[in-house]
Amino acid sequence: MTKFEQIKSELIAAPKTWLVTGVAGFIGSNLLETLLKLNQKVVGLDNFATGHQYNLDEVKGLVSYEQWQQFSFIEGDIREYKDCEKAVENVDYVLHQAALGSVPRSIADPIMTNSANITGFLNMLQAAKEAKVESFTYAASSSTYGDHPALPKVEENIGNPLSPYAVTKYVNELYADVFNRTYGFKVIGLRYFNVFGQRQDPNGAYAAVIPRWTADLINSDEVFINGDGETSRDFCFIENTIQMNILAATASDEAKAQVYNVAVGDRTTLNTLYASIQNSLASNGVDNQSKPTYRDFRAGDVRHSQADISKAKNNLGYEPEFNIQQGIDKAMPWYVKFIK
Ligand SMILES: NC(=O)c1ccc[n+]([C@@H]2O[C@H](COP(=O)([O-])OP(=O)(O)OC[C@H]3O[C@@H](n4cnc5c(N)ncnc54)[C@H](O)[C@@H]3O)[C@@H](O)[C@H]2O)c1
Repeated sequence: MTKFEQIKSELIAAPKTWLVTGVAGFIGSNLLETLLKLNQKVVGLDNFATGHQYNLDEVKGLVSYEQWQQFSFIEGDIREYKDCEKAVENVDYVLHQAALGSVPRSIADPIMTNSANITGFLNMLQAAKEAKVESFTYAASSSTYGDHPALPKVEENIGNPLSPYAVTKYVNELYADVFNRTYGFKVIGLRYFNVFGQRQDPNGAYAAVIPRWTADLINSDEVFINGDGETSRDFCFIENTIQMNILAATASDEAKAQVYNVAVGDRTTLNTLYASIQNSLASNGVDNQSKPTYRDFRAGDVRHSQADISKAKNNLGYEPEFNIQQGIDKAMPWYVKFIK
């Protein structure tokens, strides 16, 4: 039995109360679905900045009536301390996902990104500490590696941030560290590496690469690759990310007050990714073999990214269950249904 399977059966036997911030978003709604299916009680907080009511409606349709009754939603803003205080009441585990993602969004509007990602983060951290929650796990980011050239990325070695977004995620880690030193509040940061899967938003100017290309291929729109296509990433399927959140929330004290890479430990170029999405869509009835259009590299993007996941494996018992191809094959039917 894996550590994850063991924890899941313990949670089913003795359900907990979880707060998922950003619950109407991509990662948040997937966490909600998994937790409700494990018969947990979940409080969700979101202001619908980038999340959607239809993500919550979809989860409602995927769980039983009794499980859905275990969910309570607060429409609120993490930039408002009162909303954070209300959300953490009687909560055991906090999974803090709410933030404004996207490097280009942060370059276009650093002040907005700062307020959600730094002020909002600090509010949540402080409210959770005051409420004496059992654990607090937050979404950090691989962007914190910035211009550090080493591959694979090891948690201890980071470079200079390359975007306002990266600054905000690094500041989260600094606050987390200081809350441990100052108040003994031990939290866990999860440095996500390009998470993808069902319910990741394909719409809007700041859509991530996999949903963007998938939607463009389905709609027969032109697909743009920024740069020569040899840029690479450690794409991580949502189910692996959910596993890490649950392992982190229930981790022992020794494993806390740390950051962990969340990825697969692999590296895929954009050119390979494009072919892989095309092939997977073809087996789902969307046969679009058009060639992509190459354009300039994008400001703030790092060239290569790949995680060393041994710390998560050793300290938390993390065992990624999906590689990129398995993840894409799981996600494509959802996109075909959602977009058509
Ligand atoms: N998806 C990735 O590849 C990735 C990579 C690294 C880090 N992250 C981090 O993971 C977290 C979740 O990302 P996601 O991909 O699910 O994005 P998402 O945009 O789908 O979800 C974020 C959610 O947070 C909510 N939100 C934003 N500002 C808020 C505020 N002020 N108050 C309340 N709710 C607010 C949004 O409405 C949305 O529902 C974010 O912290 C993001 O920075 C994601």
